[in-house]
Amino acid sequence: MAKITFQPNNITHEVSDGSSLIEVCELLNDISLPFGCTEGTCGICELTILSGGKSCSPPTDNEIDYLYQEDINAGMRLGCQMKIISGELTLTWKSNQTNKDEKPFPKTNY
Ligand code: FES
Repeated sequence: MAKITFQPNNITHEVSDGSSLIEVCELLNDISLPFGCTEGTCGICELTILSGGKSCSPPTDNEIDYLYQEDINAGMRLGCQMKIISGELTLTWKSNQTNKDEKPFPKTNY
């Protein structure tokens, strides 16, 4: 089992090794990450790995095409492209979101 922590809300879950982040988010009731195209072309799912980058799959060709290399080097990823391989991973939502008041975690009842 791998462990994933979602910041800034500090929500941690154990997930099966090799799970895609989309699968994980579909199963968890207290996490809501927005996904759009799910193909690595829209950028809605941009996030930043804070620690444990080696616990997830390497950037896909779609991520390399979409993201700047310096952003990838700083831990930015497209959540729809990621798998959690093993170990411990901490991520946060992208810090450059248009609406700074938007809080993607946890799920709320709108
Ligand atoms: S959902 Fe569109 S790039 Fe990830």
